[in-house]
Amino acid sequence: MIVRPKGTKDMLPEEAYKWQFLERIAAETASGFGFREIRTPVFEHTELFARGVGDTSDIVNKEMYTFLDKGNRSITLRPEGTAGVARAFLENGLAGGAMPFKVYYLISAFRYERPQAGRLREFHQFGAELYGAEGAYADAEAISLADAFLKNLGLKKVALRINSIGCPHCRAKYHEALKAYFAPRLDEMCADCKTRFDKNPMRMLDCKEENCKKIASDAPRMLDYLCDDCRAHFDQVKNLLDLASVPYTVDPSIVRGLDYYSRTVFEFVSDAAGAQGTVLGGGRYDTLLSQLGSKEVPAVGFAAGMERLLMVMNAENAPFGKEIATECYLLGMDEKSREKAFLLATELRRAGVSAETDLMERSVKAQFKYADKIGAHCVAVIGESELSEGAAEVKDMKTSASEKVNFKELAQYLIGRRSL
Ligand code: HAM
Repeated sequence: MIVRPKGTKDMLPEEAYKWQFLERIAAETASGFGFREIRTPVFEHTELFARGVGDTSDIVNKEMYTFLDKGNRSITLRPEGTAGVARAFLENGLAGGAMPFKVYYLISAFRYERPQAGRLREFHQFGAELYGAEGAYADAEAISLADAFLKNLGLKKVALRINSIGCPHCRAKYHEALKAYFAPRLDEMCADCKTRFDKNPMRMLDCKEENCKKIASDAPRMLDYLCDDCRAHFDQVKNLLDLASVPYTVDPSIVRGLDYYSRTVFEFVSDAAGAQGTVLGGGRYDTLLSQLGSKEVPAVGFAAGMERLLMVMNAENAPFGKEIATECYLLGMDEKSREKAFLLATELRRAGVSAETDLMERSVKAQFKYADKIGAHCVAVIGESELSEGAAEVKDMKTSASEKVNFKELAQYLIGRRSL
């Protein structure tokens, strides 16, 4: 038997309604904030991610699904959504449209990581991006949208942590301080950190190796090196979050795993997301669009991991709504009634009522069993006498009560039952 590739998951019909719930809440919450949907390709030119996500990030260095296509182009399955949205924004000349530009997306993304609970090689994100606004209001709006989404899912135990990692200007000084701190300890650190030391010492704070983590825990904090503008920006973000009653804690250890961030960074974390505590992460990235060749366009956004959200929702017993079951199963007892059942099912569907009927020429008993298995609300039984009366015997599958309903009134009758 051929099995699915490591780090991927099948989304079975039993789970699908949970995904649909997550996706619906995501779309509704984003629309409520004036964000519109965007869909971009699953694969892009490799260079987009190398330039966009950054060549000192683990994602670009170790985790990308990159291959040469038949035209010898280097192609990469998207490891995240932000770079593709930025490319689409520039390529389609959207900077000339209404600003701020606010979009959301529901995507699959691919990273060659070591799979574990909450960490997959193909995973799904709900993300949102906001372009054109450099002030703290935009950061607060992005964070508020993320917070509203999690609240609308019914989650209560997800905590928001925020930090500022400054701008390229103040970060230069911080890098010097980090290098001074790490230099005498560099021998004890992993090979990756030795490279990071030269290329981007802030990445050393994000190393997953235990020993490196220990050394990094006492490193200088970016918050102590913020320039006046970055500090004022961060203070205003905090004020606006207070104003919007979005609770947070400042966590100076958050640096994020992608290179494009500046100023505000944030993560929503939960104990229930396995070893991978972060269910949603994001921040401001004012230099990404100019790195892709445009003039500077300030930007802020986030993405939530849907698989991790599902884990947290299950752990918190959050409600997914109900799976929509078939409203009426039409049961034909013999050949002639079977045809009538087929016709009635067609008519019910045209009237907007969900209906199923026998496709396997089963016995009455087997049809009842099937209707029960699929959770049909009612079974409309049609036999010889029902055909001559022009009415079906409609059985409520929960109470077992039944009543005769005229064929012509069946749709209205079933619609009327919805409020029961
Ligand atoms: P990220 O932190 O790399 O940020 O990913 C966002 C979320 O995706 C994570 O918090 C996590 O829930 C989920 N995630 C990431 N990797 C995996 C994985 N291997 N398996 C399962 N879930 C995963 C970004 O992707 C940025 N593009 C977010 C952003 C948008 N920043 C600004 N705009």
